[in-house]
Amino acid sequence: MYYSLLSLPLLLPLVTGQLSSGVGPLTSASAKAQTKTCNVQSYGGVADNATDVGPAIQSAWEDCAAGGLIYFPAGDYALDSWVTLTGGTGVAIQLDGTIYRTGSDGGNMFMIEHTSDFELFSSTSRGAVQGFGYEFHAQGSLDGPRILRLYEVSDFAVHDVVLVDAPAFHFSLDTCSNGEVYNMVIRGGDSGGLDGIDVWSENVWIHDVEVTNKDECVTVKSPAKNLLIENIYCNWSGGCAMGSLGSDTDISNILYRNVYTWRSNQMYMIKSNGGSGSVSNVVLDTFIGHGNAYSLDIDSYWSSMDAGSSAGVQLTNITVQNWTGTEEDGSQRGPIKVVCPDTAPCTDMHISNFAMWTESGDAQTYTCQSAYGDGYCLQDDGDSDSPESYSTTSTATTAPSGYPAPRMAGDTQDSLGTDALIPIPTIPSSFFPGVAAISPLAGGAGASSSGIASSTPVSTPVSTPAVGTAYPVLHRHRREH
Ligand SMILES: *[C@@H]1O[C@H](CO)[C@@H](O)[C@H](O)[C@H]1NC(C)=O
Ligand SMILES: *[C@@H]1O[C@H](CO)[C@@H](O)[C@H](O)[C@H]1NC(C)=O
Ligand SMILES: *[C@@H]1O[C@H](CO)[C@@H](O)[C@H](O)[C@H]1NC(C)=O
Ligand SMILES: *[C@@H]1O[C@H](CO)[C@@H](O)[C@H](O)[C@H]1NC(C)=O
Repeated sequence: MYYSLLSLPLLLPLVTGQLSSGVGPLTSASAKAQTKTCNVQSYGGVADNATDVGPAIQSAWEDCAAGGLIYFPAGDYALDSWVTLTGGTGVAIQLDGTIYRTGSDGGNMFMIEHTSDFELFSSTSRGAVQGFGYEFHAQGSLDGPRILRLYEVSDFAVHDVVLVDAPAFHFSLDTCSNGEVYNMVIRGGDSGGLDGIDVWSENVWIHDVEVTNKDECVTVKSPAKNLLIENIYCNWSGGCAMGSLGSDTDISNILYRNVYTWRSNQMYMIKSNGGSGSVSNVVLDTFIGHGNAYSLDIDSYWSSMDAGSSAGVQLTNITVQNWTGTEEDGSQRGPIKVVCPDTAPCTDMHISNFAMWTESGDAQTYTCQSAYGDGYCLQDDGDSDSPESYSTTSTATTAPSGYPAPRMAGDTQDSLGTDALIPIPTIPSSFFPGVAAISPLAGGAGASSSGIASSTPVSTPVSTPAVGTAYPVLHRHRREH
């Protein structure tokens, strides 16, 4: 199907089994630009940081939605009225400027729906949306808008853009398929309700993303399948998770790897309380944590959710391996907590190469409840068809060998608070210790070298040969089934 884009297979990065087919747009942004370019400045958009650019985006979309590229030249734009961009085919949005929220409605600042072969990106890696969420949060309100929501979008990519300080959630992927999300920084206030990326979709590759907030980092919701999530930096966040899981949960084939978590609520949580359905075939591989409250936290009686009346969500075939680092207080909140429903025990659970130690005190606990498999406190079910419930907590008083783990240079001691302006950061080129981002920044190696805006704004869209020819090589991650 995607042959024309697979002409350089040796240059495609290796993507392992979790995805079910290729991901990303079907045609390059430069090809779209050649079909038609709709510059928002030709539709009434003005980079004066005052004129509402919403109507210009909506008009540019009407003209380019059937095939083309919507282009924001570098500059500062005000967004007062939200946009719903629907029914596109073969359309890209090249955001090389910064969009500042000025409107105050709820909803979604950018809603893209029922669209295929789509790309949202910045060619300079400096495109950003500043949500000024602190204006709401300082008043104790979480009623402002989300920044970006994709609904029923297929064959797409979102990359090289920065989302800052959403009044509510930052980025949701709802019922999308065959997508790639990469080279992004999401930086929000230090509060719950400000999720980074929430994804309930099929066949999506999310990689090289940093999230600062105090809620979901990159979190899977139901239904979802075939997600590959890697090189994730949860920098003072809630942490990555799955859930909240309720009735008819349907999640399978999820691989997280290279997840670095600093000062977050947890390194990985699966959260439910009652509920039904299943989660299966999940791998959580190569996690590093420092300063987190919880580490592995599977909680099927999560007290922040109202208890459902069903037996519980069935978890099966979940592998946790290669975790290192330290947790805040291991005797208060041990690094392994696998609490499964007594009425629906977890099966085929595996924990190996797990070496974490406490930052305070000299003991840590491992807690398992109705969880069957192998490793640490997991019990062997002896191939029983109906394993019985149990609960056990053990205490370790010596540090496991191999627990020390590297840190990211960007870890800081201070949160971003909730009542002050959050500056727009630049996108780094690494999101996990010792691992370079899979794709180079669109803006080139120097794109993240300083915190100030580019002094050489790109004045033409990606159809310029230098950038355009790079697309098939740098921005395509198609993979044969
Ligand atoms: C754009 O306007 C906002 C206020 O809406 C202001 O905070 C911001 O600093 C302005 N951006 C620039 C680059 O002047
Ligand atoms: C368990 O999950 C892994 C990873 O998704 C998968 O490769 C394996 O086939 C699954 N095993 C079973 C018995 O389904
Ligand atoms: C990760 O853990 C698996 C299973 O315990 C092990 O086979 C593998 O060698 C580990 N990988 C690394 C890089 O340590
Ligand atoms: C990590 O988050 C803190 C805010 O908590 C921020 O000051 C720091 O710059 C972030 N680090 C990186 C590398 O972005």
